Amino acid sequence: MKGPVRVSLMGLGQRGLQHLKSLWTLQQQGAVRLVALADAFEANLETGKIRDYVEGFESDGVLHTTDFEALLEQEPDALYVCIPPNVHSGEVVRAAEAGLHLFVEKPMSLYLDEALEMEAAISGAGVLNTAGFQQRFDGRHEAIHRHLREGRRPLMACYTYHGPLEGHNVKHHQTELHGGPANRVWTANRAWSGMTVVEGGIHLLDLWRYWFGDVEWVQAHYQHRPEADVHDGADNPYTYSALFGFVGGATGTMTLSRLRKVYADHGDHQVLWTEGRAEIGWEGVTTYEYHGPYPPSQPPPQDNVTTTLYEGRGGDDTFAISKVFAQAIAEGRPELIRSPFSDAMNSLAAVIGANVSDDLGGERVYLEQLLRAESFAAYRRKPS
Ligand SMILES: NC(=O)c1ccc[n+]([C@@H]2O[C@H](COP(=O)([O-])OP(=O)(O)OC[C@H]3O[C@@H](n4cnc5c(N)ncnc54)[C@H](O)[C@@H]3O)[C@@H](O)[C@H]2O)c1
Repeated sequence: MKGPVRVSLMGLGQRGLQHLKSLWTLQQQGAVRLVALADAFEANLETGKIRDYVEGFESDGVLHTTDFEALLEQEPDALYVCIPPNVHSGEVVRAAEAGLHLFVEKPMSLYLDEALEMEAAISGAGVLNTAGFQQRFDGRHEAIHRHLREGRRPLMACYTYHGPLEGHNVKHHQTELHGGPANRVWTANRAWSGMTVVEGGIHLLDLWRYWFGDVEWVQAHYQHRPEADVHDGADNPYTYSALFGFVGGATGTMTLSRLRKVYADHGDHQVLWTEGRAEIGWEGVTTYEYHGPYPPSQPPPQDNVTTTLYEGRGGDDTFAISKVFAQAIAEGRPELIRSPFSDAMNSLAAVIGANVSDDLGGERVYLEQLLRAESFAAYRRKPS
């Protein structure tokens, strides 16, 4: 392709603005040219508001519109779709059919039938595509990916995150006008977010897939919040316990909570292989592995088995995923993309499968059946 990639973006909320910041930088570098921005609300399209998030943003030559068809008329090469996952209305299919390369934020939909339709349209059109799993570009996660590929057999990942219910970010969709929470924090609401394993846990699940391969089955149990404890639409469960089984035999355990009045969070992330363990934190990745003669004459000192595999927070993965997406389009190199839509379907099915398993009393749900079997049709369908 000659010249910068012509990019459009729909959904100028929390995530769309983060992507716009990256795209604005990529525009300064000559890699992309912004041509259209769409949002459902005029207020989110005001240049002054956008500048509060994207320093120095100028709207010259960029159409700001509430009309999706008008965005398509600008004939962009690519479209970023950054809208809440329950409000899709055929835009991804329409854009794929119009030949646009697609960046679709996670979770691509709360409904598997709708996501399967998107997947079919994207594959059919042969456009380049990615789901918004930027964490595969975090240096810490790349280091683990490489470490496991050096002949280590993964056994298990364990992720715990206890976040305060009130810690959710404020959102930009005016949910109060569309039957959602008055405070706009739709991530705490079941109908809008698909619950926390789908909304947030999907990032971890997708990372585990980056390291371990596809998920085969899932079992889950949640502790649901009773109506009497629901404030301002925040009706997501108190706690989530989910166990994911990978095709190669590894497992992933995810323990999440969103409690009110705690106002403190706690996280822990471990990855285990047959003869070692990695701990992932904000400060980097530490591995615990013994490399000396085996068996040692006496237990080795801790220093001998502790290695810093990666130091620091892993870089700006949101910028990295866009840089690579633009490069893949410009150079016609789909192999640069780490989360093509079709690949991401397994991540989406796994987390939706966790919700289904919880609903079925903790039954083991096989993803192949969840995606295809008639017995799961009702769980795939979008409510009308
Ligand atoms: N990858 C990540 O780390 C990450 C982080 C945050 C959010 N997300 C995902 O990004 C998506 C958007 O979330 P958000 O946090 O930006 O929400 P948000 O509510 O802050 O923003 C959504 C925006 O989409 C707009 N919108 C809704 N329907 C639209 C339509 N039909 N046409 C045009 N605009 C429309 C809203 O007006 C709003 O401005 C969600 O799927 C969310 O899960 C991903």
